[in-house]
Amino acid sequence: MRSVVTALFVMFAAPAYAQSQPPIKAPAIAQTCIACHGIRGISTSKDSPSLAGQPDIFTQYQLVFMRDGQRQPGVMAGIVKTLTDENIRELGAYYAALAPPPPFAKAEPVDAAKANAIMGPRRCANCHKDDFSGQGETGRLAGQRPDYLIKALKDFRSGARRGRGMGAMMEVSVTLQDEDIALIAHYLAAKP
Ligand code: HEC
Ligand code: HEC
Repeated sequence: MRSVVTALFVMFAAPAYAQSQPPIKAPAIAQTCIACHGIRGISTSKDSPSLAGQPDIFTQYQLVFMRDGQRQPGVMAGIVKTLTDENIRELGAYYAALAPPPPFAKAEPVDAAKANAIMGPRRCANCHKDDFSGQGETGRLAGQRPDYLIKALKDFRSGARRGRGMGAMMEVSVTLQDEDIALIAHYLAAKP
């Protein structure tokens, strides 16, 4: 086991990074996630979210929801079924320890005042924090891919995804127009 962990550490940590940060142990199973969620949890694939910097509990809940069928697992159907509770705990801790994604480079420029006019009354920052870094069961939004944010908000709006927090996300998204969703998504994606 020790050799597997060491080998993965060497794979995941670039030398410069290893010098400035304590080693982050990647659980072996995290290798199967790279194809879609990217190296060190920063996604370069359309519709696949970045996982780096997500709160530990948030990631654990989402994996349990997808495994148990409360959230549509989509392309993750096969993989998520095989995850043990232990795998899920390790994955939650691992992604939470990774540096969060930088501002999404290809986010479309948006009018911040318009974004705030949509988000302010809905109190998005109350739960997701002022810097949108997330906390506890509430996901990080800053730097997330806009294509994924759009899909997530539409899934909450239609009720396809219900989520934690007593349906709070369904409630705040039900009155959003498609243009509002696109605007918020690009605004959040560009956040550091
Ligand atoms: C074939 C591509 C693919 C693979 C492999 C894959 N995922 Fe995913 N994953 C996705 C997609 C696409 C979504 C978004 C689903 C949606 O739209 O609701 C997702 C969503 C997630 C989410 C929810 C994130 C959020 O912000 O809500 C987590 C957590 C996650 N994946 C973890 C993993 C882990 C851990 C692995 C490896 C064990 C893995 N995934 C393997 C494609 C993949
Ligand atoms: C009352 C608390 C609360 C408020 C207000 C709130 N959220 Fe959320 N949000 C949550 C929780 C909890 C989750 C995790 C839901 C789950 O378990 O799927 C979440 C998830 C999300 C996700 C999915 C993240 C991911 O990676 O899958 C997006 C996008 C999001 N919220 C955007 C917003 C926006 C935009 C607003 C304001 C219009 C908002 N939220 C307001 C609590 C809140």
